[in-house]
Amino acid sequence: MHNDLLKVLVTESQIANRVVDIAEEITDYYRGKPLTVICLSNGAIVFAADLIRRIPIPLQLDSISVSSYRGTESTGEIHMHKGLRLCVKDRDVLIVDDILDTGLTLSRVTEEVHKASPKSVQTCVLLNKPARRRLEIEPDFSGFEIEDHFVVGYGLDYNEAYRNLPCIGILKQEIYQSQGNR
Ligand code: IMP
Ligand code: MG
Repeated sequence: MHNDLLKVLVTESQIANRVVDIAEEITDYYRGKPLTVICLSNGAIVFAADLIRRIPIPLQLDSISVSSYRGTESTGEIHMHKGLRLCVKDRDVLIVDDILDTGLTLSRVTEEVHKASPKSVQTCVLLNKPARRRLEIEPDFSGFEIEDHFVVGYGLDYNEAYRNLPCIGILKQEIYQSQGNR
């Protein structure tokens, strides 16, 4: 898998250190509040799993399953495969995603979560890619700001592959080309 990377953008230890910092910010912010963390699966599964174990306050965990990408391009259409299972009425909700790109996914999911009458809704992403933003949305908590590259690893996929890479890297172009994308 590593051979398919043009370059490693964020190493495993850089991710681990940053996760500790974000978790501290989140802990300070939500202490004493009824926190529900919502993981956007599948992409945010790895990040959310590491993150919540660094947040030493009571919290509930739920997930919403969405998809928008085919290959390396956002389809612009969000498919919701699974909604909330827990009740978030009057609770403080933190939506966790792997990456904020065009903003379509987080805007759509935030809108959806608001329908369940939570007290507050905030967002946390590991990566922020502002270059391709199509909607006015910024994350409340963010790990790293990156340039406009298509990245994989630590939960992020290319056609469902590479999610289990422990680092985050830029895919070699020939990988998309050989599979007919871009
Ligand atoms: P948005 O709706 O365009 O903001 O995209 C958010 C979703 O697209 C994320 O949850 C990711 O699953 C996916 N995504 C965006 N950029 C990348 C990337 O560089 N690599 C892999 N997935 C990405
Ligand atoms: Mg995703």
